[in-house]
Amino acid sequence: MALNFLGLPQTILVMKKIGLLIICSITILRSFADEGMWLPLLLGQQVYQDMVKKGLKLKPEQLYSANKNSIKDAIIIFGGGCTGEIVSDKGLVFTNHHCGYGQIAAASSVEANYLRDGFWASDLSKEIPSKNLSVSFLNRIEDVTNRVLTALGNTSGAERNRKLQEISSAITKEVVGESTFKNAVVASMFKGNQYFLYVYDVYRDVRLVGTPPESVGKFGGDTDNWEWPRHTGDFAVFRVYMSKDGQPANFSADNVPYKPKHFLPVSLKGFKDGDYAMIFGYPGSTNRYETSYGIQLSTEVNNPTLVKLRDMRLKYMFEEMKKDAAVKLQLASEYASIANYWKFYDGESKQLLKYDIFGQKKQTEQQFNDWAKGKAEYETVLKEYEDAYAAWKPYAKHRMFLIEGILGCRLIQAASAWQNLEALLKRRDYKPEELERAVKAADAARTNYLNNYNLKADQQILASAIMMYYSDVDKSQHPEGFYDNLFRQYNSLEASPYKQFAADVFAESMMTDAKKWAAFQAKPTVDAIIQDPAFKVVSAFVKHFNNKYAPAFAEFTTRNNDLGRRYLKGIMEMNPAQVNKMYPDANFTMRVSYGQVKSYRPRDGVMYDYATTLSGVLSKYVPGDYEFDLPKKFIELAKARDFGQYADPHYNDIVVGFITTNDITGGNSGSPVLDAQGNLIGLAFDGNYEALSHKLAFDKELNRTINVDIRYVLWCIEKLGGAKHIIDELKLVK
Ligand code: ARG
Repeated sequence: MALNFLGLPQTILVMKKIGLLIICSITILRSFADEGMWLPLLLGQQVYQDMVKKGLKLKPEQLYSANKNSIKDAIIIFGGGCTGEIVSDKGLVFTNHHCGYGQIAAASSVEANYLRDGFWASDLSKEIPSKNLSVSFLNRIEDVTNRVLTALGNTSGAERNRKLQEISSAITKEVVGESTFKNAVVASMFKGNQYFLYVYDVYRDVRLVGTPPESVGKFGGDTDNWEWPRHTGDFAVFRVYMSKDGQPANFSADNVPYKPKHFLPVSLKGFKDGDYAMIFGYPGSTNRYETSYGIQLSTEVNNPTLVKLRDMRLKYMFEEMKKDAAVKLQLASEYASIANYWKFYDGESKQLLKYDIFGQKKQTEQQFNDWAKGKAEYETVLKEYEDAYAAWKPYAKHRMFLIEGILGCRLIQAASAWQNLEALLKRRDYKPEELERAVKAADAARTNYLNNYNLKADQQILASAIMMYYSDVDKSQHPEGFYDNLFRQYNSLEASPYKQFAADVFAESMMTDAKKWAAFQAKPTVDAIIQDPAFKVVSAFVKHFNNKYAPAFAEFTTRNNDLGRRYLKGIMEMNPAQVNKMYPDANFTMRVSYGQVKSYRPRDGVMYDYATTLSGVLSKYVPGDYEFDLPKKFIELAKARDFGQYADPHYNDIVVGFITTNDITGGNSGSPVLDAQGNLIGLAFDGNYEALSHKLAFDKELNRTINVDIRYVLWCIEKLGGAKHIIDELKLVK
């Protein structure tokens, strides 16, 4: 899920004119140039005028309109965490390869390996329905701040959370009712100072139309991930279907292609350095008002712990994947998502430290404290933050070990879900159908585990997680007796006690033993659960954490919420003139970001060009490599310079990737990059390494969004995929 900005000269001018006072508010407000994930319905004159100044040629109502068709109608939520866009009047969707990755892997087998070889449906009837994939269209937005804040009153902490859940579900129920084709979300803006209702139409018949081979769609793999210069053809093509009478529907052979209100024309005209670029999409989360305490917790505890545990898990998964094509398909999607944020959090820490974001936050906080002196609502906010972090920090590593280590073993994660069954059986007064339902759910979860995970890799992960927990987690927080017993029972010198222990868990749990499972299903008893060796790990680690430390975490997060709301309200009061130039943190609601195509200097003496080319792909080619291999046909086409109508005049080559200054983040993956007229010029798919701290601090000089050029996408479809009929469906702007 990709990501990210710029605009220096203007900034400096303002500072010089208005002097020191404004410099302070500017650092705190982080609110201009190409920074900003704007709410398209509330652009405001100032922001819109700035877009026009930078080159935008559209009217505000062409970007977003409640009643008329506008660009927003072509932008969709793709699956659970990506963006897609409609590009034809028959519901054709472009998104990233890494967004369709799970569906592509699921549609593949060792014999028909679409992930490896690519796939193009020759007509509608060959498109592949995707189970569990839906897309959502934004239907309307409503400001519900008054209603929500009235319901919340003066509450705080856990009570406020509970009331927020109550009022949110009351509001969403009113609009959704029993429909499975509508979705509604009450989204918090500015850390709970405003609330908006988002209503979506959900389409559940979405089919795979085509994908390049993984060697193209994920070219450069994890080595190039989060980095520029980039040569990844990160795109995939889907289609949305609707019922014959034009309604959202579940999959049915009778369904027809979706008829959009608006679809994006595709430009073959390209761009040059400095051209306007605009991105619509669904950025997932940022925390640009994070405090110095939060930065410290990330760099000192959370990030390094996550990275260390993911290193370990990835190593064991990869060992099995490279041995066997079926295992590779089975684990590919899970592996990619673990690897993606493994590299992200490692990079985030490095950039936070390199640019001393902690020190910058400290300065900002000093300014806030100076202003807040004598103001009862605000003067203790930062001190309270400090206390909240100090109270939680001793347990933070333990929590990461649970989530990324112990539960990183998916056998233990699946067994953890048996806690429901255990509670039910202990109650004794359950109804037979309740038990039947719970056993059925557990059976489905078990099948899911066995289908989607590799036992060998998972067993190694358990052994290592338990070993690393022993040495890394503070001894005073260990589950009582667990390690004493383990060392007593597994004391042979032949193998590590952890490995012997894990081997027994995997050999004896009813999760992996079909006979035991059948016996349990025939007669479920609480004893069978409690005595199961995988569930014993759940009891020792998961329950232990939940009983002793989860309450402290809940306390920490609710305090953090309360403080965040006050802190941000204070910041706005401190800078009244800047308030209408502020944008809320990303929260997976639709945003627009504007900027320009722009080269940059990553470090002293180095200049990065704004685009990469097909020749550059060839020069990275490593035959047979896991990340840098290429299909034979690709090499032939590229060497023959068979560019069709897609060559870029400036480079006299196909442009593959390009960078823009837009402010985006994970969730924006698959987002359309639009030119000044609203034509599609690329798909956003990543952020650059030099600005990986972008969730917590936006870097105006270094932040870039990495995009795949739409002309490369079309070249891959037509020349490599031989699917000219897809091109014919588009509205090309030449
Ligand atoms: N970093 C990109 C994102 O978060 C793409 C991730 C997929 N690629 C990979 N090599 N794991 O959107």
